[in-house]
Amino acid sequence: MSKIILTGDRPTGKLHIGHYVGSLKRRVQLQNSGEYDKIFIMIADAQALTDNADNPEKIRENIIEVALDYLACGIDPSKSTILIQSQIPELTELSFYYMNLVTVSRLQRNPTVKSEIQMRNFEASIPVGFFTYPISQAADITAFQATTVPVGEDQMPMLEQCKEIVHKFNSVYGEALTDPEILLPDNKACMRLPGIDGKAKMSKSLGNCIYLSDDADTVKNAIMRKMYTDPNHIQVSDPGQIEGNMVFTYLDAFCSDDQFERYLPEYKNLDELKDHYRRGGLGDVKVKKFLINVLDEELEPIRKRRHEYEKDIAYVYEVLRKGSEAAREVAAKTLSDVKNAMRINYFDDQELIQKHIEKYKGME
Ligand code: TRP
Repeated sequence: MSKIILTGDRPTGKLHIGHYVGSLKRRVQLQNSGEYDKIFIMIADAQALTDNADNPEKIRENIIEVALDYLACGIDPSKSTILIQSQIPELTELSFYYMNLVTVSRLQRNPTVKSEIQMRNFEASIPVGFFTYPISQAADITAFQATTVPVGEDQMPMLEQCKEIVHKFNSVYGEALTDPEILLPDNKACMRLPGIDGKAKMSKSLGNCIYLSDDADTVKNAIMRKMYTDPNHIQVSDPGQIEGNMVFTYLDAFCSDDQFERYLPEYKNLDELKDHYRRGGLGDVKVKKFLINVLDEELEPIRKRRHEYEKDIAYVYEVLRKGSEAAREVAAKTLSDVKNAMRINYFDDQELIQKHIEKYKGME
């Protein structure tokens, strides 16, 4: 069986380093591993519209930003297909049939939908499209017969819902859909990178993000001025706490042992640095400076590549157009398989036509 990746992001803003460690970095590794036959990366604009119906301009403006972030991180259009969800109408058609395989109460129990409804204060006024987006996401995944979906942990309930739809479809209509597996980040610190203020999630509205496109000074200032550490670690000599201390959380996600050699040779690795911080005698500024170096090493090549692509936006749109066209062909094949399995392929079904001819023979 071929190995196929599908994953994606909502284009509601530029991508931040939480997206990067949670999924993007891994995608690039998977892409370059050569282990996958096909890789599809979706800019999920239709899904973004499910809770931005009154602000299509926001989505429209951010598709190019997300595409630039992808290319900057090393997504290579000759190896991965980047597509825009709304340009693949087959996805909508698939969703419509999958809707019959999912109950309202099952959607209500979906933990991601539940928490998003709360976050957006939707409560009694949930748009139907938003409520059913897990079904549309199942269409995204199955349309490309994805075997592997690399995403952050928050997408786990979406994958479970998708698998249920696949099982139900295949058992009711016959095997037409591929059962996908989720691929979570392997580093636990990368599962859900908190905002620099220590709040649970990086989000634009909280102003606690570091964006992939931020310049070095912006990152430095954010870390020096705004990053949450241990509020009880006042004097350098005070013992400090690691848990909930964002400088260490980010180091967990980003730093490697060889960076100690280069920037902090008095420590061998992060464990030694943490021990010293816990004991006391290690100041925040020193650790923050190290983090700035670590992040800069990772982000500088990304920034450089982004600037190159920014000079040729027409090319980026061309990548998106070609990717969407190629993706559409794949989705059309799946839709045709789905309709055959459901036997709603009337005009291709000679047996059906013949049967009805027989039925009405000799009735005149
Ligand atoms: N729901 C994902 C997010 O919010 C985006 C997305 C849409 C996606 N369709 C997908 C992710 C299919 C993986 C597979 O980030």
